[in-house]
Amino acid sequence: MTAPSVETIPPGVVTLEDHARHAQTVLDANAWAYFSGGAGDEITVRANRCAWDGLQLYPRVLQPLAGGHTRVKLLGRTLAHPILLAPVAFQRMAHPDGELASAYAAAALGAGMVLSTQSSFAMEKVAAAAGNDCARGPFYFQLYLQYDRAVTLELVRRAEQAGFEALVLTVDAPTHGARDRERRAGFKLPPGVSAVHLAGLAPAPNVALQPGQSALFDGLLAHAPTWDDVAWLQAHTRLPVLLKGILHPADARQAAALGLAGIIVSNHGGRTLDTTPATAAVLPRIKDAVGALPVLVDGGIRRGTDVLKAMALGASAVLIGRPYVYGLANAGAVGVAHVLRLLRDELEIAMALCGCKTLDQASAALLLEGKSTIGIANATDSYL
Ligand code: FNR
Ligand code: LAC
Repeated sequence: MTAPSVETIPPGVVTLEDHARHAQTVLDANAWAYFSGGAGDEITVRANRCAWDGLQLYPRVLQPLAGGHTRVKLLGRTLAHPILLAPVAFQRMAHPDGELASAYAAAALGAGMVLSTQSSFAMEKVAAAAGNDCARGPFYFQLYLQYDRAVTLELVRRAEQAGFEALVLTVDAPTHGARDRERRAGFKLPPGVSAVHLAGLAPAPNVALQPGQSALFDGLLAHAPTWDDVAWLQAHTRLPVLLKGILHPADARQAAALGLAGIIVSNHGGRTLDTTPATAAVLPRIKDAVGALPVLVDGGIRRGTDVLKAMALGASAVLIGRPYVYGLANAGAVGVAHVLRLLRDELEIAMALCGCKTLDQASAALLLEGKSTIGIANATDSYL
């Protein structure tokens, strides 16, 4: 593909939070409600941030740091750093280059990317933008199982063909959360933005509801995926499958027993069920439940210190959602690259100042046990 348009970073934007603040001035109210919003009272959105803020790094001094690096191993590959772009739908609503710009930036910065089923560009085009340079980060396809297995299989075949390295099956959103912010804004997809992979897909056949039946349980969710569908998917793809949206250790154990390639601890950035625990709070028990199985985490990661804390709690890698979409809104591919660069630079600084030369040295010893006494008060004012 031709390189996306080159834009510049707005003056004064030096953190992910700055990107968020600036993006609010760039995006219209409709897009802002969609990208920034969460479910219900957005308690989980805030909890995700508060939980990272509430963990205290406990640095060591005078450690040897020469030759330090941020490299990690994930699914058989060595990555330059452990930061991936989470699947986010409809990125054309943030910028005309949409997912193409995100893929371009991720590839340039050696970051991973997980492309949403609800991408606004076709996966083949996004794959072309990502290229296949060996320094490119991992490139995964996020799958929402469709009620019609033939449709799901076609998406899987296309993803295999287009060179995606793994499937990320999202399991925490069988239905939308109650998105009050979107409803207040009267959210609508603007013309020209759609879930291109699902174009022309007939809606699930309408079940004639009997009196007293629920439109949700007996309608939409009559076709909702279960663990059997996970096993079916594994049997029908040669790609490794990760489950995204795990919060409970029992689910994590079931995923491990099915031979999944990894788990993403996620509450969908607080967009599905409100008042679930923060991902940082449950990560350690998930890690305990599954041992060596790779566990990734997302939700509220906004600082290099957050990335280091996640690694110290046993994560193999982290994903960011909203921050890179704000970078995209602010400056296209350059904006996404800037967000990734900031986070990686901050991670290196945090490692160095903790006396941690490599991420395999990051363990629970880097964190002070017990309840935090440091400032989580600001978190409610944060742009998310
Ligand atoms: C998402 N997320 C998401 N997840 C997924 O599996 N498929 C999807 O299509 C989407 N779409 C989506 C749209 C928007 C606007 C957001 C903000 C999020 C969830 C996403 O992958 C990730 O779990 C969270 O965004 C992580 O939290 P932070 O970093 O946004 O706090
Ligand atoms: C969302 C869906 C697309 O969070 O996952 O908006």
